[in-house]
Formats: sequence, structure tokens, C-alpha cells
Amino acid sequence: MQRVEREIARLIQEIDYDVVTHLFEKLQGGKRLRAKLILKIATSSEQAPLLGAIVELVHGASLLHDDVIDEATLRRGTPSVNATDGSKTAVMLGDILYSKAFSELVLFDREIAKVVSSSVTALSKGEMMDVKMSQNFNDDAQIYLDMLYLKTATLIEAAAQGAALLEGKDAQKHALYGKNLGLSFQIIDDILDITADEATLGKPAMNDFVEGKCTLPYIYLYHALNTPEQERLRRLHAKVLDKEETLWIKEKMQEHKSIEKSFALAQKLSNEAMQAVKEDAGLIEILETMIKRSY
Ligand code: FPP
Ligand code: MG
Repeated sequence: MQRVEREIARLIQEIDYDVVTHLFEKLQGGKRLRAKLILKIATSSEQAPLLGAIVELVHGASLLHDDVIDEATLRRGTPSVNATDGSKTAVMLGDILYSKAFSELVLFDREIAKVVSSSVTALSKGEMMDVKMSQNFNDDAQIYLDMLYLKTATLIEAAAQGAALLEGKDAQKHALYGKNLGLSFQIIDDILDITADEATLGKPAMNDFVEGKCTLPYIYLYHALNTPEQERLRRLHAKVLDKEETLWIKEKMQEHKSIEKSFALAQKLSNEAMQAVKEDAGLIEILETMIKRSY
């Protein structure tokens, strides 16, 4: 991973603008899940750390823009760039990071460049769907999962597939691994939004529903409630919840096992990811660590 960090530092330096260097230093690196995946798959390729750096810059750019869109004030436990330096700066920093990533991506094999660049179109499409969907109460799990695939899983899928292409490994199997890992990862994120506290999350707890996002536990809950309760849940959608309302949602989720049902789907997807790369202990370990986040 040090080689990935070195590549990231080199690319930032090449931008040659102290404002960017300074802002980037303030950004927390995060888990670097996508780069870790690339290194575990493309074990012998000289280009793997650069591909990891590219994907992490794209991911970082997408989060900068996402925090502007979501009007978020916290990211990874510290104030977001839009909160400290304003939305204009956050958008422009995102533009610089992601265009720099793309100018490095063209150095790669055409097929790899195509896989990664089209995943960025897909994740942008997913973000747009997420914003549109949060304007209304969505109770359709499939629509939700389709959006999740685009918004979160496609970049992870592209990272795994791109790394497999770099290493001459089975691209389809690794793409499937990345896709299911990505979906499972995001479902666990949605669960943690409900079960974890602000200190653990590095952002406000139970915020998804306030932002209008009907994540899987809310969709499962909705279908388990009786009609007056369904109406109450709809009325609480996209508004700041008081203590009693939060407690009601949590109790109802407990009663109807909404978290357990969501977790079961995350586990099923994670098992499918495991099946795709059966003999690769390193990739299985990444999955297991990810699933353990939810305990
Ligand atoms: C986080 O979702 C957001 C994403 C995973 C994708 C955001 C994508 C864009 C803004 C498209 C623009 C892309 C580029 C490369 C500039 P979330 O809000 O559910 O998660 P959070 O709780 O971590 O904010
Ligand atoms: Mg967000």
C-alpha cells in the first residue's frame, strides 16, 4: 500500500498547485479498499500501484462532490471540504483529482481504461438516481439495489476487473467478485447508519432516512408494517427525527428483524463473491474483514 500512497503523492505533486496540495493533505485517506483489492489481484504488475492510485483519486473526487450534493458537514470523522472551504472549492478539487486520474488512466491498456472510465459514468448515473429517489419514499428493494450497484459497486467491480486484466487473470470472475463485494459493502454501510453511533461512523448516525434515503432496512420494515404504521413511516421520511421517532423506528426494526434481513442479503452477496474467487485467500480475507465491520 505504501507504493499506492507514493503514487498518489506523486500525482498530487504533479498538479503543482500548493492550494491543492494543502487541501489534499487535509483529506483523510479512508480504508483504501479499492486500491487494496487491486494490489491483491494484480500481484506482479508494475502498474498496479498506479491503477490503485487512479481509482482512489476517482473515489476521493466522487466523495468530495457527494458531500456537496448531500450538504454533508462530516467526512471520515473530520469536517468535509465543503464545510471548511466551501462547496465551490470542494467541486473544483474533485474536478482536479478526477481529471488527473483520467490523464494517467490513458497510459493503460485500452480495455482497462475503458472498464475504469465507464464505471465513472455508471457511478455518476447512480448518484443522480440516488438524489432523484430520495425526493420520494421508495419501497421497491430492486430499484434500490439497482441504484446501489451503479453508485457504489461499479467502481469496485471496475477495480477488480481492471486488476485482473492487468495480471492476465479471469476478468469476469473478478468483476463478479467486485460487484458482489461492492453491493454487500454498501448494504452493511446502510445497516451501520442505523446501528452505529456518530463516533464510530465519523458522520451523524441515522442520517440516511433524514436525507431521504430509503435504504434496505427501511424498505424491509415498510413491507412488514400495518397500514397506519406504514403511513407513519412515510410521514417521517426526509425529516429531522426527534428521540421518540428514532426510537419508534429502531423498535419496529427490531420487532420485524429488518436489520437481520438486510444483513442476510449482505451475507448472501458476500458468499457469492467468495464463490467467484474460491481459491484466493487474500480476496476472501478482504470480504471477511468487510463483513466483520458490522459486528
Ligand atoms: C456516496 O454515497 C457517494 C458515492 C459512492 C458516489 C458519488 C458519485 C458522484 C458524486 C458522481 C461524481 C463522480 C466523480 C468522479 C466526480 P452516500 O452519500 O450514500 O454515502 P456517504 O454516507 O459516505 O456520503
Ligand atoms: Mg453522501
